[in-house]
Amino acid sequence: MGWNKILVTTLILFFFYIFSNAVEVSYDGRALKIDGERKLIISGAIHYPRSTPEMWPSLMKKAKEGGLNAIETYVFWNAHEPLYRQYDFEGNLDLVKYLKTIQDAGLYAILRIGPYVCAEWNYGGLPVWLKSIPNMVFRTKNDAYMNEMKIFTTMIVDKVKGENLFANQGGPIIIAQIENEYGNVIGKYGGDGKSYINWCANFAESLNIGVPWIMCQEDDAPSPMINTCNGYYCDQFTPNNNNVPKIWTENWTGWYKGWGDKNPHRTAEDVAFAVGRFYQYGGTVQNYYMYHGGTNFGRVSGGPYIATTYDYDAPLNEYGEPNQPKYGHLKELHAHLMSMEKILTYGNVTNKDYGNMMSHTIYNYNGTRVCFFGNANQNDAITINFEGTNYTVPAWSVSILPDCKTQVYNTARVSTQTSVMVKKLPDEAKEKSHYNLEWSWRVEKFEHLKSHHLKGVTYANQLLDQKLVTNDTSDYLWYMTSFEIDEDDPVCCEDINLQVQNSGHILHAFVNGKHIGTKYAQGGSYSFWFERAAKIKKGINQISLLSVTVGLQNYGDHYDNTQNGILGPVNIIAPNSREKDLTNNKWVYKVGLNGFEQELFSEKGKKRKWHPNIPLNRRFVWFQTTFRTPRGEEPVVLDLWGLGKGTAWVNGHNIGRYWPSIIADNNGCSTSCDYRGSYYSSKCTTGCGQPTQRWYHVPRSFLREEENDLVLFEEFGGDPRNVSVHTVTVGQAIAHAYEGNSLNLSCNGGRVISDIKFASFGDPRKVYGTLRKGSCHSPKSLSMVKKACVGKESCSIDVSERTFGPSGCRSSVKRKRLAVEAVC
Ligand code: GAL
Repeated sequence: MGWNKILVTTLILFFFYIFSNAVEVSYDGRALKIDGERKLIISGAIHYPRSTPEMWPSLMKKAKEGGLNAIETYVFWNAHEPLYRQYDFEGNLDLVKYLKTIQDAGLYAILRIGPYVCAEWNYGGLPVWLKSIPNMVFRTKNDAYMNEMKIFTTMIVDKVKGENLFANQGGPIIIAQIENEYGNVIGKYGGDGKSYINWCANFAESLNIGVPWIMCQEDDAPSPMINTCNGYYCDQFTPNNNNVPKIWTENWTGWYKGWGDKNPHRTAEDVAFAVGRFYQYGGTVQNYYMYHGGTNFGRVSGGPYIATTYDYDAPLNEYGEPNQPKYGHLKELHAHLMSMEKILTYGNVTNKDYGNMMSHTIYNYNGTRVCFFGNANQNDAITINFEGTNYTVPAWSVSILPDCKTQVYNTARVSTQTSVMVKKLPDEAKEKSHYNLEWSWRVEKFEHLKSHHLKGVTYANQLLDQKLVTNDTSDYLWYMTSFEIDEDDPVCCEDINLQVQNSGHILHAFVNGKHIGTKYAQGGSYSFWFERAAKIKKGINQISLLSVTVGLQNYGDHYDNTQNGILGPVNIIAPNSREKDLTNNKWVYKVGLNGFEQELFSEKGKKRKWHPNIPLNRRFVWFQTTFRTPRGEEPVVLDLWGLGKGTAWVNGHNIGRYWPSIIADNNGCSTSCDYRGSYYSSKCTTGCGQPTQRWYHVPRSFLREEENDLVLFEEFGGDPRNVSVHTVTVGQAIAHAYEGNSLNLSCNGGRVISDIKFASFGDPRKVYGTLRKGSCHSPKSLSMVKKACVGKESCSIDVSERTFGPSGCRSSVKRKRLAVEAVC
């Protein structure tokens, strides 16, 4: 064979290899089509920087086992380009590796590039350095913005294309998104908003990615951009074009948590109901936001005031473990929906409204039928007669009948176990004394408080926007000024009040080097007045204000213009009401804190001198200790109860801001949660009067085999002596199943069921959350369940008299059931 032939054959083989998995993605008014075939897409959001590459394969595996066929993620511009033209695609920012992990798991990908993303992400994903480009206005017809958006978006598309990751290249990506929820703000940008969104559409199209583009929450989305729905319920949504499928980009599985907030919960029944309704009413692409929320490591959270946990009450919890029963209940639903894929996407549809919010939908494909019975009445179960048979559908639920005869699934009947997660000390901790952590400490040096004459700092005769001065490289910025007082000065030499207006988010004030007070934003408003007494002296006085941000704003029209830090005025008020306004004084700006600069949290920091005898409740100190890696596979968390507020590092990895001293409001929690009726984020909350976040995730990949370094920067003062290392695991598994079914139980992470605390086959009930025997009960209940389950990782029990013998139930007990509480 000549060289030419070899080259041609190699090229053909190469292209065959590259394009062998290539598929064509198109759509019509009904569904997304893959190689011409209509598909149901059940997707889940998992943001790659909110976990670690080591966690990705297992997250994908669980997502797939949970019945998803796609994973969605945003792309986070300010994480990838933190400084102008300095890029980062390493570690958990390795987007290409992430997409390949999705593909390796046999899943499709939905890539929401944005690049504005919202997402409770710092500054909505946009880099702060953008603001230093002249004439920059975010998210509107603005050349400077459009130019930068174009450069970043093109780079991402090229990167992804270069790796053949779009579906038409054999990759997993079947849909891409440009912008995010622009429809919510477009009105505020006038005609420029409309021009901008048209530009976005043309620009996206010009990138030739070979798969459809979507715009979520954008009724004006210009064709061929597909407008899609976000929300708790999207069954009533219709796209702005008849020739596009009904797509739900964000089905909020719970909600995010802000510092000071309670824990939001959305029930499995309600999420399943919303999904059931969506597919009943012709939806064909749905994405859970979030399927796995994960953790806001480092400084990535924005809002502001978003906690480090981004658990979201998602089907996979913060640590990547099933959140039961939500995960399992949805898994069952997905299996039923997928089994009906052909009929749902090709069948003729007929709907019937029974009144009272009750309806049925029949999909008929060449005589094969599937039925949905939907009851959106939030109070009453409704019985309908369908083709001669009576069916009762519980309130606020959807029943699925894959043959239009048998209700195989009802969204309000949960048969998956409820797993009660517990945090426990590692077993070895009980044996060994070295689990009593030994702490040492250093002070954060504030030498500049004595003299503001510093090198390499910014000066201005005004109060500057904090994020512009720090360029978002730190949460901390010093605003410092001095003023001279002579005897004639009206405010001379008295006890004064220092008054400062601040917009974010924490202020520590010092006068002549002495800390006079700290105040932080509370109650949802981020600007506040600070006023404290201080003493000033004749001669030079120094005012030093340490302003601290807790993530930058991420949402709203013109959100980028929200000023951070000390807004002014800054006043000295004498008792006789005379004032001295320092707002336009000469201000000296110093970014960051010394300990951060010296990297006290890293190996470098270890070489410095740390002292024994830690001070308690002292502000601005660094603590250091070491701890052993808990054995096993279970997720690891730090209990930071007792500390104030600050940042924590494990082996140099920033595990995020901590703030266990911020306590959630005492009111509005409930021990039970009614799944019926529309959900809203404050509907079912727990954790009243508790720290917003006490437990902080340390991914196992951050840990060394034996000994780990833990460093804390404590800003408010606290007591680290209670800090401890725990693992998270299923403590109890509670499940019930009706006769004729099987009851399944399992523990996580290879652990076995150690005991059965309760088992009753008959008519057991729940009294104040505790299982109790009812009017009848098979005496063999407990022994049979123990026999079947104790010592096993999981077990399945046939719920019948064959297993348990007679239960002695009267005929009035229509459906016997088994209820079990197992200890893991
Ligand atoms: C949506 C937004 C998401 C996320 C969500 C709340 O409006 O598109 O990015 O912020 O709200 O979790």
